[in-house]
Amino acid sequence: MCGIFAYLNHLTPKTRKEVLDFLVNGLKRLEYRGYDSAGVAVDSADGNNMAIIKKSGKVQALEDEINSLASSLAFDTIMDCHVGIAHTRWATHGVPNAQNAHPQRSDTENTFCLVHNGIITNYKDIKLFLAKKGYTFESDTDTEIIAKLMLHIYKSHPQNTFQEIVEQCIQQLEGAFAVCFKSKLFPGECVASRRGSPLLVAIKTKTRLATDHIPILYGKDFRPHGGPATNETLTAASLMPRTPSTAEFQPMEEDKQVEYFFASDASAVIEHTNRVIFLEDDDVAAVKDGTLTIHRIRRNLDDPHAREITTIKMEIQQIMKGNYNSFMQKEIFEQPESVVNTMRGRMNFEGQSIILGGIKDYIPEIKRCRRLMLIACGTSYHSAVATRQLLEELTELPVMVELASDFLDRNTPVFRDDVCFFISQSGETADTLMALRYCKNRGALIVGVTNTVGSSICRESHCGVHINAGPEIGVASTKAYTSQFISLVMFGLVMSEDRISLQQRRKDIIQGLRQLEEQIREVLKLDSKVQELAKDLYKHKSLLIMGRGYNFATCLEGALKVKELTYMHSEGIMAGELKHGPLALVDETMPVIMIVTRDPVYNKCMNALQQVTAREGRPILICEKGDKETQEFASSILEVPHSVDCLQGILTVIPLQLLSYHIAVLRGCNVDCPRNLAKSVTVE
Ligand code: F6R
Repeated sequence: MCGIFAYLNHLTPKTRKEVLDFLVNGLKRLEYRGYDSAGVAVDSADGNNMAIIKKSGKVQALEDEINSLASSLAFDTIMDCHVGIAHTRWATHGVPNAQNAHPQRSDTENTFCLVHNGIITNYKDIKLFLAKKGYTFESDTDTEIIAKLMLHIYKSHPQNTFQEIVEQCIQQLEGAFAVCFKSKLFPGECVASRRGSPLLVAIKTKTRLATDHIPILYGKDFRPHGGPATNETLTAASLMPRTPSTAEFQPMEEDKQVEYFFASDASAVIEHTNRVIFLEDDDVAAVKDGTLTIHRIRRNLDDPHAREITTIKMEIQQIMKGNYNSFMQKEIFEQPESVVNTMRGRMNFEGQSIILGGIKDYIPEIKRCRRLMLIACGTSYHSAVATRQLLEELTELPVMVELASDFLDRNTPVFRDDVCFFISQSGETADTLMALRYCKNRGALIVGVTNTVGSSICRESHCGVHINAGPEIGVASTKAYTSQFISLVMFGLVMSEDRISLQQRRKDIIQGLRQLEEQIREVLKLDSKVQELAKDLYKHKSLLIMGRGYNFATCLEGALKVKELTYMHSEGIMAGELKHGPLALVDETMPVIMIVTRDPVYNKCMNALQQVTAREGRPILICEKGDKETQEFASSILEVPHSVDCLQGILTVIPLQLLSYHIAVLRGCNVDCPRNLAKSVTVE
């Protein structure tokens, strides 16, 4: 998905080379989101215009292009105040090429230019309107219409400020966007806004800021005493210049030297500062003369007075690859620690108790609900499939598991006494967020289960569980899956705390959770064996992964990992369904992996195994350590330690994460950024 990064230095002298390095480095931090082209805009060497540099392909290609322009860009020129904007694009409208890459501009004079993440759904209407006014277009993007609309509004209201022009412009836009603008007319100023796509502003000063929040300036509908807000749309003419108020972040005297960063997420800014403001939908953040202001057009009764400056705890090492070849490999190997971090401060193993601080006040309400709905996409959806059976057992409530996109397509009935869980690593997945809003509008209690503090799903939930897996950079989700799995198990344990009949079961699960760290370390030792198996498999076209019961989710998740990373066909097959069709695929040439563990469906799994071997299939088995009886039928075995049945899926999925990784490497695929995919899917 597109990534935005902008850098503004005020009274903080930087050479043009330093500014460009900041921009390119910011883009590198956002590479994990997936992209196909990249670009930057900085002031031109003569200071009277802009230099816009764009390249299709990798950020490295953009960096090479910038370096080749060293002399014309005047790398050594020192700039006291400057705004640079940068972007990685993931094509939605128009092919990935330099022309369609961002920044997009209003005209050949570069009066306004912008970077955009999202989709403008009414771009055709606006394009038609602008074309009738004589504007011509040079790209196939929806974004270009925003730049042209800015110019049009400016021409109609030349007295307006930069921020006012942006406010008027975004009111005309429908769809999802995070936008960041630079203008030749307003040097040293940067204006940004969002609706539906994530955007934050980070602040760096020499001394710690005296303030922890930035007051919000409201437009003319502002009712200081909470009077009713009108629905009246602000017209361009009604936008009056505001008198400056205290509602601004004006750096203190010693803070006059200030730097601002605008970014799609915190991983791009953390090496510069940990002080960030997560913008909300329809906020317009403007920096002028080194002062940051946040504006909103209208004020509703429950709107806040200020946006908080959050101190984020992410460490730079957390987002670096370290000694690993890829982020994905690092994240697979981080799982012994990430699962512990998910449980840290929540599980009391001695006292056999669990506290989930983010939802504890809501537990009585959840216990009274009519049903639980777990809604998510992709891997996050699989974590719901993996824990559904246990949640049914521990909560004694009906549990529906839903793919967010399908849930919305069906207009699924939702009621006030439903509790809806939205599971999302990024917390920004558009389908999941839409489903959340749909359920919230119908009065359901909304519980977010996310890995990203400050994400939209976090903010829009009534309560939630942060999975604390640490930043996940590889596009393929690995450690987030195991942490989501554990978070949902902990929720089940909290719900069953006072059920006498479930006490032994709870003890077994708590004991199982306690052993996970060591057991995952043991599973990871299979790495070289898995690598050898990958050598046998990587030239095949297809790979079937079969299992049932608690291990079915592992089959779905393993197959998804193989598909997305290796581009091989792979299917997760419910073993109970074999004879209803998939068995026809099985012969001596078809690679099959079967998961057979000593759980309540063991005998049924053994039947399936025999059905496969009877068709000459020689499956690779993932089974429990020392289970000789099961292993007899296998061509190869991957032994994992025994855990309690409902946690076994955490151990069986890891060999499949490793396998997909090794097959992808052998096939020469880009492990961290699989083709056509993005980390944060902020479009529907
Ligand atoms: C697969 C993968 C995707 C995501 C899905 C939801 O490895 O990463 O299937 O799981 O796009 O993303 P989140 O969890 O961010 O909502």
